[in-house]
Amino acid sequence: MNRALHETCHRMGKLRILVTNPEVHQKAIELLQERYEVDICTELPYPTREQILQRISGTDGVLWCSKVKVDSEMLDKAGPTLKVLATMSAGYDHIDVEELKARGIKFGNTPYVLSAAVAEVAVLLCLATARRLHEGRLKIETNNWESYRPQWLMGQDIQGSTVGIVGFGGIGQAIAKRLIPFEVKQIIYSGHSPKPQAKEFGAVFVSFDELLRHSDFVIIVCPLNEETKGMFNEEAFNKMKPNAILVNVARGGIVDQPALYEALKQGKIFGAGLDVMIPEPLPTDSPLLSLPNCVLLPHVGSATVKTRTAMAVLAAENIIAALEGKPMPAPV
Ligand code: DGY
Repeated sequence: MNRALHETCHRMGKLRILVTNPEVHQKAIELLQERYEVDICTELPYPTREQILQRISGTDGVLWCSKVKVDSEMLDKAGPTLKVLATMSAGYDHIDVEELKARGIKFGNTPYVLSAAVAEVAVLLCLATARRLHEGRLKIETNNWESYRPQWLMGQDIQGSTVGIVGFGGIGQAIAKRLIPFEVKQIIYSGHSPKPQAKEFGAVFVSFDELLRHSDFVIIVCPLNEETKGMFNEEAFNKMKPNAILVNVARGGIVDQPALYEALKQGKIFGAGLDVMIPEPLPTDSPLLSLPNCVLLPHVGSATVKTRTAMAVLAAENIIAALEGKPMPAPV
């Protein structure tokens, strides 16, 4: 926060909020401005860690819309005034939650409001990968149509398939809801424990091992943490069916990417549809880009006008509730 603004806030006794990205929806900014002094990082295309570090000191709340890590250095810089940090994301693998807790800083995220949008992208990737969208496009570009061959570009059906969902939270359930009308045979899911909501979808709780062995579609929607990091490794791919399709709309780090590359290259699995990868942005010389059976999107799961607006507003509401001493709508 700049010095002049800092001093004005002190004089007026207003709480100070930092918004870490200039493109956070205006509705959220207005909600905050009605109550607080709001400072917005304006750097384009996005504020760097250094730029955020320079502005964060002396703030009471931060609307965090950035991939930059929130760690002790960042929190030290914010100083003891910081009472709440609200990330404009469902995932929070970039935030040191333990450190926030240890300092008594409230923390909220934006789940639920993005479930439908992310689920739509999961369905999009299931269809695009199963029906070889990327490969088909390459055939057109290279003038290699062979549609006279009845076995050309044959894909996989969602109808009659077993869909395995890894992590059956809000997004996992939204995916199940959207895939059931495609007449899937069965939805199975893995995670820590069975979910009562699964009954609604006739979804069956299985071990991760069983899920890998039985699924025609494996969809990753679990959070990235020490337990899930790299869980899709060579061993996991060896257990999957050769017709299986892997879809990842969670975090790239859950998949061992070199092992995935080998599995796709060697035909251990049929294809992969990824909205997330490591690193992001993916380097243009990444081997994944050379694979016709890999459909890639640049992490756009929640990128719709309605969803990003709702995420911004929910993040602002988390801040307001925390500063007013009320329960946050989406606490972590
Ligand atoms: C989320 O909200 O976690 C999305 O993946 C965007 O980062």
